Amino acid sequence: MRWKLGFGARIYNWYGKHALVYAAGSWLVFLGKEQKLRQRAVEAMGIKKGDTVLDLACGNGKNFALLENAVGAEGQIIAFDYSVGMLDAARSRTNAHNWHNIEFAQGDAAKLNLPANRLDGALCTLGLSAMPDHESAILRVATALKDGARFAVLDAKKFDGFWRIFNPLLRFLFVYTTNWDYRKNIPLTLNKVFGNARIDSFNSGSIFIAVSQKS
Ligand SMILES: C[S@@+](CC[C@H](N)C(=O)[O-])C[C@H]1O[C@@H](n2cnc3c(N)ncnc32)[C@H](O)[C@@H]1O
Repeated sequence: MRWKLGFGARIYNWYGKHALVYAAGSWLVFLGKEQKLRQRAVEAMGIKKGDTVLDLACGNGKNFALLENAVGAEGQIIAFDYSVGMLDAARSRTNAHNWHNIEFAQGDAAKLNLPANRLDGALCTLGLSAMPDHESAILRVATALKDGARFAVLDAKKFDGFWRIFNPLLRFLFVYTTNWDYRKNIPLTLNKVFGNARIDSFNSGSIFIAVSQKS
């Protein structure tokens, strides 16, 4: 059944083996602005060389190059995902680039169990909207962040304004081919937990970057 953990695992395991199909889907989601928006989300964390950063629901590792650039070889990236297939693809990418500072962990983000105050930054791109229990995941990230550290979330939602007429098409395209739950209000939950989410919208509201800071 859609929006359940098992349904998501099956779908994302398949994408882990079909990187080109996943890349084509990503192009559609970002309408060609993928690299620019991923870069913007990484910059929003304000991380620096030597920092430790979490890539929550890392998928096949599309953020790794940007994160490596930000934290350097002296920093550390924790790559967490539920899908074994996606993690395998992320490991292959890591080996191909000879990155040695990425620690992989498999599990449900709602049960993420990192030590408190460990992270200098956390990133989640297209992940929270695909999780059955995004509220618990956000709470877990908040605990693992150091005071003052930021959580950058880049995610998808339905179109606003005139482009709303395309929302049925959007649902049709992505509800059965991903675990995207368009009913979630992620900025609202981020605000409940952090109290200070700053939201920027792109592509007629269908993409947003929300940045929250632990205080
Ligand atoms: C659309 S993909 C995004 C992957 C990657 N962050 C990106 O930007 O390309 C959604 C990812 O969320 C992961 N995911 C879904 N539910 C999860 C959960 N409960 N815990 C951890 N990861 C989860 C999936 O396995 C998948 O890799």
